[in-house]
Amino acid sequence: MYHKKYVIPLIVVFLALAFSPLIYNAMAKSLGHYPEITKPKGECVESAEWMRANHMLLLQEWRINAIRHGAEGGRIYHSFTYGKEFHASTNTCWECHQDKTVFCDKCHNYVGIKPECWDCHWNPSLEIPVR
Ligand code: HEC
Ligand code: HEC
Ligand code: HEC
Repeated sequence: MYHKKYVIPLIVVFLALAFSPLIYNAMAKSLGHYPEITKPKGECVESAEWMRANHMLLLQEWRINAIRHGAEGGRIYHSFTYGKEFHASTNTCWECHQDKTVFCDKCHNYVGIKPECWDCHWNPSLEIPVR
């Protein structure tokens, strides 16, 4: 019926394949462990890699600089990647990322976070109540 002596070696081969990083990576890519986001053309405030990792810290820095040091030029941010100047405000993001739902939300829903910033700050998907 079944060959007992093959069972253990087959399990070993299966485990070796299942935990092989090569196979894992090939599968991870085809499964797409990265949400589909719509990006504008051109450049961000800093490089895309840097922004991906640090945009939340950048916004925090902008907030502190704008609120505490606004009078001494804190509202002007100098990009260290591109040397350009940006107005330190959440609204600056919407100048280029015009649709929050296809960009910020796609990623945040994917990782399951809901930044509370938009309880107070304007964003392009806000519906202003009519009266
Ligand atoms: C409870 C309301 C509230 C929440 C929630 C909130 N903010 Fe603010 N934020 C303010 C107010 C009020 C100011 C001051 C506005 C001014 O003086 O121009 C401000 C200022 C800022 C500024 C600088 C000024 C500007 O125009 O953007 C940044 C940047 C900022 N907040 C980022 C954030 C981020 C990022 C979050 C979420 C992590 C957040 N805020 C959540 C109320 C809020
Ligand atoms: C001057 C236009 C512009 C502004 C202002 C801007 N962005 Fe971007 N952003 C872009 C472009 C263009 C890309 C894509 C760059 C690329 O792929 O090389 C991008 C990429 C990103 C990425 C990386 C996405 C990814 O996975 O590749 C994040 C995160 C991001 N932006 C967040 C923000 C936030 C938050 C703000 C506001 C603080 C902001 N951006 C302001 C144009 C802008
Ligand atoms: C490439 C994916 C990606 C994109 C695009 C993206 N975010 Fe995020 N964002 C994240 C991840 C992941 C975190 C959580 C990081 C953590 O918890 O350390 C985060 C966290 C944040 C936080 C901090 C939340 C908190 O409560 O501390 C803010 C604010 C934020 N994002 C704003 C934005 C804005 C505004 C945009 C669009 C202009 C944007 N993000 C686009 C992936 C993204």
